[in-house]
Amino acid sequence: MQRGKVSFRCSECLSVSLQWSGQCSSCSAWNSLSEVVETRHQAAIFSPKGGPSGISKICDISHENIQRRQTGISELDRVLGGGLVLGSVILLSGDPGIGKSTLALQLAAKQHEEIDTLYVTGEESSQQLVLRAKRLGISNLPIDVLAGNSLQSILEHISEYKLVVIDSIQALSSGNLTSLPGSVAQVRESAEAILRYAKNSECCVLMIGHVTKEGTLAGPKLLEHMVDTVLYFEGDDASRLRMIRSYKNRFGNVNEVGVFAMTGSGLQEVGNPSEMFLSRRVSDVPGSVVLATHQGTRPLLVEVQALLDASSLGNPRRLCVGLDAQRLMMLLAVLNRQSDVLVGAYDIFVNVVGGIRIVDSGADVALLAAIISSVLDKPFPRDVVCFGEIGLGGEIRPVQRGEDRIREASKLGYERVLVPKDNYTALETIEAQIIDIVSVSELVQWVEQNPS
Ligand code: TYD
Ligand code: MG
Repeated sequence: MQRGKVSFRCSECLSVSLQWSGQCSSCSAWNSLSEVVETRHQAAIFSPKGGPSGISKICDISHENIQRRQTGISELDRVLGGGLVLGSVILLSGDPGIGKSTLALQLAAKQHEEIDTLYVTGEESSQQLVLRAKRLGISNLPIDVLAGNSLQSILEHISEYKLVVIDSIQALSSGNLTSLPGSVAQVRESAEAILRYAKNSECCVLMIGHVTKEGTLAGPKLLEHMVDTVLYFEGDDASRLRMIRSYKNRFGNVNEVGVFAMTGSGLQEVGNPSEMFLSRRVSDVPGSVVLATHQGTRPLLVEVQALLDASSLGNPRRLCVGLDAQRLMMLLAVLNRQSDVLVGAYDIFVNVVGGIRIVDSGADVALLAAIISSVLDKPFPRDVVCFGEIGLGGEIRPVQRGEDRIREASKLGYERVLVPKDNYTALETIEAQIIDIVSVSELVQWVEQNPS
């Protein structure tokens, strides 16, 4: 293959130089130059349709419905926005060992009978892949596997398939470049070539991408703007629960969450995640509050825990896992101004049980209620669920999908729901009692007067 012109691009400031050096001459960043090859005849990502100039009128462009394929894994369908879209490229990323390869192999097993499916394993040997398949109970299936990491050999085969799993994009290497697999140049070159082929041959590609220790450099961040959908695996090591969240989706909602449990035989879907998140809840412990949240299109109940402990430090610690740490600071300031509850001298630890990360301003009331409950040493009532956003003036504001949240709480047998006044709806079909609150001071009072 003909080698193009080689130059070096800084990953920080994107300036290009003809020679490699340890420090970028433009922005002085260290170790940021990586090789790029300019090939003269880069094929366009989309082959032009429309007139000779490639320009067409928006009203003339046909807009047949997007064709989706159900994956056979309903939690995955949910995060994809209803299934796989042919010709789309999905990036699945997450920490090492979280279950990316497992899910990809399970997907290939579900799909191989219906559409031509290829599993490219660049990281593990075919033998290792078969060991995993054995655990999943699918080692007898005729799934096509390509073991290797040459980009060119993958591109040769890709047009024969309708679903291609690439495990992983960082393991691929292109013969056009001399840099190591996983470098910025290699990842970019491989992803661009695969994207081009996928778009032109209506093939759906699931790319696995690692999060590097440093966070971003050669990792998925580089690819996010190129692909159609970005899915991210979440979950903590100690728990079996694994969540997949959509961060970007050109064909569906973002922040949609699919919930799985890692078992001895692969990932299993969790149909009733709220029950799962609350299954280990201990009663009558101060600082534990159940939040009715809404992620994507689904209401979800999770337990928020807070622990306040007298601090020996001049600058007490604030640690927040699963919720926005900035938001915690803001809520503490509001609590300080709007009530007599003093928390300034305490170390504060906040955690959402199950390793899920909550992106929802409606979590404010539960977070603050957990803190108040812990500092007052009064258990929050076990049968109460709450939600609501808190403003800087201490007012409790309404949130979206209040009714869905209330219904989910009632469905799981909670007897009382603490809601913002503007979300107050007397739902006739609901058994739970709905209590409205308007301000932080009222919330403090409520926690004081209604211990478990
Ligand atoms: P894996 O899919 O290899 O993770 P990734 O590709 O994201 O690095 O998953 C590896 C972990 O999952 C490993 O710790 C073993 C565990 N596992 C199970 O618990 N059950 C199973 O059936 C399989 C296949 C893996
Ligand atoms: Mg893997």
